[in-house]
Amino acid sequence: MPHPLRIAVLASGRGSNLAALLAARERGELAAEFVLVASDKSNAGALQLAADAGVRTLVLDPKAYPDRRAFDLDLFGKLAASGAELIVLAGFMRILDGEAIAPWAGRMLNIHPSLLPKYRGLHTHRRALEAGDLEHGASVHFVTAELDGGPVVAQAILPVAPGDDEHRLAQRLLPLEHRLLPAVVALIAAGRLAWRDGGPWFDGAPLPAPLRLGPHGLLNA
Ligand code: GRF
Repeated sequence: MPHPLRIAVLASGRGSNLAALLAARERGELAAEFVLVASDKSNAGALQLAADAGVRTLVLDPKAYPDRRAFDLDLFGKLAASGAELIVLAGFMRILDGEAIAPWAGRMLNIHPSLLPKYRGLHTHRRALEAGDLEHGASVHFVTAELDGGPVVAQAILPVAPGDDEHRLAQRLLPLEHRLLPAVVALIAAGRLAWRDGGPWFDGAPLPAPLRLGPHGLLNA
């Protein structure tokens, strides 16, 4: 048996996507070991969720560093020391320094609440509504130095409903995020999704388009 994938999670906030990952492991759907949960916010809910699950936590205060690069180099150095093989950004609300993350190319994922390449950055739900989009969604992508710009590997699509406002749309999307992220990480843990030759591969071939989250929580080509 190959060893469970060693994962570190970075989160700045409530941590519901972290909770979904931990729950997937509990259900036996994710062959992973959570080696560290790290945050830039000492009051992040994610830290309590991690502690409750017996996962080691780390808080680094950006104000204690001279600049972004110094913070990121320390953070990603500590992540390397944790033995993590994959880093998952689950609501980590910081722009990352390209040099600090270079060693993690193909080994770091982010979940973003839009159908990338639409709406990188903040206020994605509001922007989708303002644009009159009929569909909204969430994307999981490999992280590159470009904000929310790395190759997208999977998406969950949600029809915009009459009466959706920013809050309601976000609320309706969240359960899909909670299925999407563990499903992608499980594919990586199973060796079916991998980074090769500078891009994502799925089942032994370059991934031509993002996988889609189906009605039963499975990812389909
Ligand atoms: C999610 O909407 C995620 O897509 C975005 O930040 C939010 C984090 O929520 N990147 P949570 O902390 O996982 O509950």
